Amino acid sequence: MRKSGEMTRTACIPRAQDAQERGNPRAQDAQERGNDQDDFWLHLKYNNCIEPVHPARSFLMLPTRRTLLKATTLLVPSATLAQALDFTQAQTEGPFYPTQIPLDADADLVQVEGKSRPATGIVSHLSGRLLDQNGCPIQNAKVEIWQCDAFGAYHHRLDRGNIAEAEFQGYGYTRSGKNGHYRFRTIRPVSYPGRTPHIHVKVSKSGMNGLTTQLYIEGEPQNQKDFLFNRIPEEKRGGVLATFPGSEAESETVVPEFDIVIGQTIVCA
Ligand SMILES: [Fe+2]
Repeated sequence: MRKSGEMTRTACIPRAQDAQERGNPRAQDAQERGNDQDDFWLHLKYNNCIEPVHPARSFLMLPTRRTLLKATTLLVPSATLAQALDFTQAQTEGPFYPTQIPLDADADLVQVEGKSRPATGIVSHLSGRLLDQNGCPIQNAKVEIWQCDAFGAYHHRLDRGNIAEAEFQGYGYTRSGKNGHYRFRTIRPVSYPGRTPHIHVKVSKSGMNGLTTQLYIEGEPQNQKDFLFNRIPEEKRGGVLATFPGSEAESETVVPEFDIVIGQTIVCA
């Protein structure tokens, strides 16, 4: 019988080649509208994973995105990786979660079905993985995002009577693939009165604790004055930051990466 905390396999870590391919927007275009992203991520290969005995029921997130994303390209001893992971910082859902899910609620928020033009804004391919605290992928979890349009308005009756741009979907969901990956096509978030730019994110799966949080732009000066961003302990803020394309010229070329590490114990193959 195993003792609590005993690890039976090596950590689950993508190879360096995989990380490079994740940053290739042309490769990602092939699946940009699909909810099941397993095919797209099929080329990703993982090492064996640890199998922790004791279940944790909270969400975790990489402590600093830059350092740990780079670390995932290396074969790190399982105990080292487990120690490196940290709890995801939950954030309030806020008042603008849709009261009615839109008819078009797919993972492409830039193009609304039936509209002749795409949404205004800097197009961004938000991508990431759902992982447990040991780096093992969590598949088939529902990942939802919602955000204001390029002019700072939500599709919500509480936001000035729902004046948001009709060409922007405002909300979308997908499910994580076999390797825990998810992906959205959306716009770089913008600010609105009282808030720094952000994207709301909710993760849920049957039998698992859920997480609601917010994703922010790395290097955004308004972050420093945002009351919600500043509720996150300073040493944890790197876990909710991602690099977005900074201009129209960079549309669809920079892929923000937002890995969410979940406390659900997963037995990796
Ligand atoms: Fe918001």
